[in-house]
Amino acid sequence: MTTSTTPSPFTETTGPARHAAFAELATTGPVQKVMLFTGVPAWVVTGYAEARELLAHPALVKIEGGGPHMDAMPPDLNAAMNTHLLGTNPPDHTRLRRLVTAAFTVRRIEALAPRVQEITDALLDALEGEGDGPVDLVDGFGFPLPITVITELLGIPPGDRADFRRWSSVTVNGTVHPPEVYVDAARSMVGYVRELIGAKRADPGDDLLSALIAVHEGGDRLSVDELTSMVFLLLVAGHETTVNLIVSGTYALLRNPDQLALLRAEPDRLPAAVEELLRYDGPVQVTIPAVAAAPIDVGGVTIPAGEIVLPALLAANRDPSRFPEPDRLDITRPSNAHMAFGHGLHHCLGAPLARLEGRIALGTLINRFPRLRLADPAGEPARNPGLLMNGLVALPVVLG
Ligand code: HEM
Repeated sequence: MTTSTTPSPFTETTGPARHAAFAELATTGPVQKVMLFTGVPAWVVTGYAEARELLAHPALVKIEGGGPHMDAMPPDLNAAMNTHLLGTNPPDHTRLRRLVTAAFTVRRIEALAPRVQEITDALLDALEGEGDGPVDLVDGFGFPLPITVITELLGIPPGDRADFRRWSSVTVNGTVHPPEVYVDAARSMVGYVRELIGAKRADPGDDLLSALIAVHEGGDRLSVDELTSMVFLLLVAGHETTVNLIVSGTYALLRNPDQLALLRAEPDRLPAAVEELLRYDGPVQVTIPAVAAAPIDVGGVTIPAGEIVLPALLAANRDPSRFPEPDRLDITRPSNAHMAFGHGLHHCLGAPLARLEGRIALGTLINRFPRLRLADPAGEPARNPGLLMNGLVALPVVLG
């Protein structure tokens, strides 16, 4: 097992150091057993082919019921928060995904484009109104855009969004809060969502939550715990990730002026540019922890049954055997089959929405502000610490 003297990608706080630590880990093999900073051993998968193989492997299963850090949570709250797609395996996962897919239609997502544009424009108006000084792209743009979109999509009334944002942030970062703070936020959020479900059931709207309540197939429908957990998952997955695409994407373009200039000159390249930004510095570092249900042979090693496996999407997306010159941002890169949205059964359900938001947010920002620049071009902005996400704490920029 790799010892603590080896650089740990998860504790590095800048992008270049994090990518370099993953690259260093990859030099010892595509599948490595390491001791995580949390004191738990896990198999970290840095190879593209190996990560892809594992994510599609029937013996690699998600940890059900929220995992060990939910010990402090009363069972009824745990069930209301963790009976969702990322905490289930077939056949439960298959059933849930089918029911949700029926409500999360392409038509519903495409219809959001004008509204995403309006929210984007309003947020940029507000940032511009702050004057000539630096503004923080995380607080002022990257974070409020996706949370507004997902809460509107779900049908959460505007006046309740601030509470919801607070509960979500506490519950997502559960392990860094004292258990009573965490349990309190969870109780408030679950209570709120249960009431909202009751209200939507009595008086359905044209929103995703009403559609999820109404969806049924051959007599099957989502239970209240399943609905509550789904709202929780969509809310968290719907904004904690997209903020990183918008902010890290802007940062990568500002650090690569030739690519930014090409994109401004040829706006048709925007969809391909978003894919390259997802590959180059994606929002999700490793997928949600999974365990080997049986021994798995992969990349020249055997992962024993019961051990934790972490496919590292960030490293797989820079595997030189799949992507030539992986550390170069190249928006013209052909065949960009990155894994930023995962792979296999749990492949991101919200990818079309994330792409829509990423294209509108990045396209509007760079075209509206031709002089957009980093407030501190010499510095390297800090990343949020932690296992799962890869994103900047703040990104001060000057708009014009
Ligand atoms: C799953 C990435 C945005 C909803 C996933 C997974 C990844 C991912 C890597 C697989 C996790 C695993 O296997 O453990 C991203 C990225 C996003 C993004 C990079 C933004 C750029 C969204 C949005 C939504 C969403 C906007 C919803 C509105 C989901 C859901 C799942 C999921 C529900 C679970 C699917 C399942 O288990 O079947 N996402 N996501 N995501 N994502 Fe996203």
